[in-house]
Amino acid sequence: MGHGRRGHAVAAKDSRLADPLHVAIIMDGNGRWATRRGLPRIFGHRQGAQRAKAVVEACPRLGVSHITLYAFSTENWKRSTDEVVGLFTILSRYIRREADRFHQEGTRVRFVGDRSRLEPKLRALMGWIEERTRDNTRTNLTIAVNYGGRDEMLRAARELAASAVRGEIDADDIDEAMIAGRLDTRDLPDPDLVIRTGGETRISNFLPWQSAYAEYEFSPVLWPDFTPAHLGEILDRFQGRERRFGAIPA
Ligand code: IPE
Ligand code: IPE
Ligand code: MG
Repeated sequence: MGHGRRGHAVAAKDSRLADPLHVAIIMDGNGRWATRRGLPRIFGHRQGAQRAKAVVEACPRLGVSHITLYAFSTENWKRSTDEVVGLFTILSRYIRREADRFHQEGTRVRFVGDRSRLEPKLRALMGWIEERTRDNTRTNLTIAVNYGGRDEMLRAARELAASAVRGEIDADDIDEAMIAGRLDTRDLPDPDLVIRTGGETRISNFLPWQSAYAEYEFSPVLWPDFTPAHLGEILDRFQGRERRFGAIPA
C-alpha cells in the first residue's frame, strides 16, 4: 500500500470503479477571467459553472470516483452583496438545471459546509438533490458551500465538548476517528489530489484535516478556461508520484 493512486485506506464501497480516486478542486480565477475581458465578475462565475459541469461529466472517463468542488468559502462573505447574491443564484440554477442529468448519469450530489447561514430556499434545494441522487454510485460529487476547514473543525470540537459535558464520552478517549466522524466529510474518503486553478499557491481553508496526505497541484489556468483535458494531464502526472505516507519506500 502507499504507491500510486491506491493510497487511501477508505474504499468507496458504493463505487463501480475498481480504484476509487478523490479529486478536490479549488475553482479559482473566475473574477480575473471576466475582468480581463472587460466583463463584470459574475460572467466569470457563470462560465465557471459551465466548466464545473464539463469536469464532473468527464469524471467516469478519467477514473475519478469522487470529486469535491469548492464553490463558496466561509471567507467569501467578505465580497460585495451583489457578488454573493450572484454566486448563490448561479448555484441554485446549477442545481435545478443539472439535477436530471446528474441523476441519469449516476451522479450522487452532496454538500459540505455550514448551511445554517444560507437562505431556506437554497437549503431546501440542496436537500432535495441530495435525497434525489442518494442511491447513485457512479460519480460522487460534493460541493463545498459556506465551507471553511477551521469552521468545520470548530463545529466538530463543540460537538465533542458537549458530549463530554453530558458524560457520553471521556475527553481522553477522543481520537482521530472521532474527530473525522464529526466533520462534514464524515461519509467521504480523504482527497487523494487537491488542485487549485488560477495560479495562487495557497489552500484558502479547503479541507485541511482531510488533505493531510493529499498531493497538491497548482494550475495557472483560470477556472473558466479549465477543461477535462487539463484535468487529464494533471491526473497523468499524479499517477507517477509515489505516496509514502511517512514510510520509507521499499
Ligand atoms: C473563484 O473565483 C470563485 C469563488 C471564490 C466563488 P474568484 O472569484 O476568486 O476569482 P479571482 O480569484 O478573483 O480571479
Ligand atoms: C477560494 O478562492 C475559495 C473558492 C474557490 C470558493 P478565493 O479566491 O476566495 O481565495 P483567496 O481569497 O484567494 O484566498
Ligand atoms: Mg480568487
